[in-house]
Amino acid sequence: MAQLFSPLKIKNIELKNRIVVSPMCEYSSEDGFANDWHLVHLGSKAVGGAGLIITEAAAVSAEGRITFADLGIYRDEHIEKLKQITGFIHAQGAVAGIQLAHAGRKASHVQPWLGGKQIPSNQTNSWKAVAPSTIPFIDSEETPLELDKAGIEKIKADFKAATRRAIAAGFKVIELHGAHGYLLHQFLSPISNKRTDEYGGSFENRIRLMLEVVAAVKEVWPGENPLFVRISATEWTEGGWTADDSVALANILKGKGVDLIDCSSGGNVANAKIPLKPGYQVEFAEKIKKESGILTGAVGLITTPSQANEIIQEGEADLVFLAREMLRDPHFALRAAHTLDQEIKWPVQYERAKW
Ligand SMILES: Cc1cc2nc3c(=O)[nH]c(=O)nc-3n(C[C@H](O)[C@H](O)[C@H](O)COP(=O)(O)O)c2cc1C
Repeated sequence: MAQLFSPLKIKNIELKNRIVVSPMCEYSSEDGFANDWHLVHLGSKAVGGAGLIITEAAAVSAEGRITFADLGIYRDEHIEKLKQITGFIHAQGAVAGIQLAHAGRKASHVQPWLGGKQIPSNQTNSWKAVAPSTIPFIDSEETPLELDKAGIEKIKADFKAATRRAIAAGFKVIELHGAHGYLLHQFLSPISNKRTDEYGGSFENRIRLMLEVVAAVKEVWPGENPLFVRISATEWTEGGWTADDSVALANILKGKGVDLIDCSSGGNVANAKIPLKPGYQVEFAEKIKKESGILTGAVGLITTPSQANEIIQEGEADLVFLAREMLRDPHFALRAAHTLDQEIKWPVQYERAKW
């Protein structure tokens, strides 16, 4: 059997294969609401055979959105449409996951196709961003507000309330977004976190918010459902968060009941030099898996069936997350099965198109 198509059981949830649709912001919501775009975007990947489909970053609060058009899960009214989407995904035999996120200092921007710039906080569709410290992501952006203790408590409460809504919406997997320079990553990194209280300074202090958010989520998230954390395994920057920090964090998160680390990189330093090439982040998934024993996901320029299969077969990661290739080909998994000579179940409606 092609290892890419071997099932994987994590807690009580069985994934039919190792192919994951990586979270991808669609910037297509009004006040956080999912709509038919999200149903078709995510639903088409379920039809296409992926084992796990994770929504784009869903903001746990309105001020935690990257743009005013982000998907959100900060109102009970958001649940209804999300429930339709998870229902469709599960009916195809795939599993629905949601990425919970807070943008921190990277909040209040316009959509990438409109230039992606920050909107000054005194203009419409914008607000003042919050962060661990008063350091903007790039100098041309507004200085974010430093979160005080009450602000940190609100962040934790928002993640917990979002988790309750995710359960009501039928999601079976939660991924916490601790990567790409968003709020949880901003706390982890010595570059963006210059606090002098118990949330800054030492490694133990910088990972505190992440651990407290995990604990808040686990207060309500069913013990039998998987909890993933996406991290930026390195910042590719001298003096920044390192792969060894990631191993240390993974070890601790494993002890706190996190099931899988989704290993991305970068995003917290604007001019970091990232050596892009096929599978350029797989080494981090492999290192973290081998040195901490936790399950890992590999992501980043994974585009072909044989490449994806090899990552699983060689034990470099337990899951492969694909983003842009899934936009080019929502039926990647069906095609991969054919290429790898693996018999899999097709949607009956599509059987006449089988290779
Ligand atoms: C359109 C788009 C939106 C993205 N939005 C998110 C997101 O919401 N959360 C996240 O963690 N990563 C996001 N990413 C990053 C992807 O999940 C993935 O890590 C990255 O694109 C590398 O994988 P790829 O080479 O398969 O595209 C996004 C990527 C793209 C292309």
